[in-house]
Amino acid sequence: MTRYVTASITKKKTEGVLPVMEGTMGPDAVDITSMYSQQGILAFDPGFRSTASCQSAITFVDGEKGILLYRGYPIEQLAEKASYLEVVYLLMFGELPTQEEMDIFRQRVTHFNMLHEQVLDFYKGFRRDAHPMAVMVGVVGALSAFYHDHMDINDPEQRINAAIRLVAKMPMIAASSYNYNIGAPHRYPRNALGYGANFLHMMFGMPSEDYVVEPVLARAMESIFILHADHEQNASTSTVRLAASSGANPFACIAAGIASLWGPAHGGANEAVLSMLGEIGSVKNIPKAIARAKDKNDSFRLMGFGHRVYKNFDPRSRVIQKTAREVLDYLGTDDPMLEIAMRLEEIALSDEYFIERKLYPNVDFYSGILLKAMKFPTTMFTAIFALARTSGWVSQWLELHNQGNHGIDRPRQLYVGKPTRDYPNK
Ligand code: ACO
Repeated sequence: MTRYVTASITKKKTEGVLPVMEGTMGPDAVDITSMYSQQGILAFDPGFRSTASCQSAITFVDGEKGILLYRGYPIEQLAEKASYLEVVYLLMFGELPTQEEMDIFRQRVTHFNMLHEQVLDFYKGFRRDAHPMAVMVGVVGALSAFYHDHMDINDPEQRINAAIRLVAKMPMIAASSYNYNIGAPHRYPRNALGYGANFLHMMFGMPSEDYVVEPVLARAMESIFILHADHEQNASTSTVRLAASSGANPFACIAAGIASLWGPAHGGANEAVLSMLGEIGSVKNIPKAIARAKDKNDSFRLMGFGHRVYKNFDPRSRVIQKTAREVLDYLGTDDPMLEIAMRLEEIALSDEYFIERKLYPNVDFYSGILLKAMKFPTTMFTAIFALARTSGWVSQWLELHNQGNHGIDRPRQLYVGKPTRDYPNK
């Protein structure tokens, strides 16, 4: 049922009636699409704090209550019980797969999991010390050159193929960025292994000997991938949708998403958390760090704290904290960073500044400690996030195209530059 609100626009002395759209959960949205044509006025919302950019049936976040659902299923249940590929299927197609559907889907992913040998040549063009995210932006973008001519985005089956290709190739793309970085040979996937285990094999195995993937680590890997798979219309997902709205090649769209994810305010935060914990160095230095985070004249922020949407615990941070603890116990790692992180969390959560602003630990606060314990170098943290988020990006890309063409996404602006003036006579 459509409800209507009256919008009073005082400057133009007009009153308009705008429809209100209702979702299945979460806040309603005023439909302002006809506001400019009818009232001649634009909505101003830099940072999109009050803007729903699309309709989506994939992921639901309630930031006040700390709830995250993929297709209606709570993230905690999926992280504990599902495999990552099951979650990818759920995100892409809307329902959990039957055993037969899962078998076929796994086969399709496996079929596409290698990289064209010429794609591997791309790596040689990068400096050895290139950041894996820089390499991934380049290599994923380059895939559009390999699959452009026979990629018709108006064909739903070809769209699904492109989406599966991206999910399938991302582990080798990410692992190869690391292997190139350390001068190791590229590692090929092993089809008998699960998605998470395969990534560990390509990261840490050597062609000269068998690499046995430890089940605890494989499960932790799957859980990390599930927790990072989708998060509704965040910066990188919105970037993918914006790029896709012009009909761009899917590989180019995902490369744009990777670029957006790289920033320290988004996916780059887990890397930043670890360097922050390293800088703090010891529990006794925590009060100084808290004071700096609160000082408006200091640009220092407590990395891994705060979220645009969550004004409560990020539900992913609780799961990842538990997994980090389990993995550290299993490996017998005594990481002083974990102690600093837990003490920092405790102090920040009882501090008025953080309470008032509803700043809670986000998923990145513990993911860095977990990934470090699993022997991933810091520079791979965001690359792993990008690998996992690819399933969300392709699902959102599929949804956008399945919804039909709503035209190119083209925000307007409030112009504050010079008014019209004439070029001077010289
Ligand atoms: N440390 C100290 N103060 C903070 C922090 C922080 N981590 N985060 C927000 N604040 C303060 C701001 O200074 C501001 O204070 P004010 O009202 O006195 O001016 C208030 O809290 C609101 O902050 P905003 O910047 O308006 O919040 P916004 O929603 O724009 O930012 C963001 C969210 C970018 C995540 C921010 O909290 C941040 O920079 N956190 C650290 C980086 C981080 O962990 N990013 C990962 C996000 S999760 C993800 O991408 C998976």
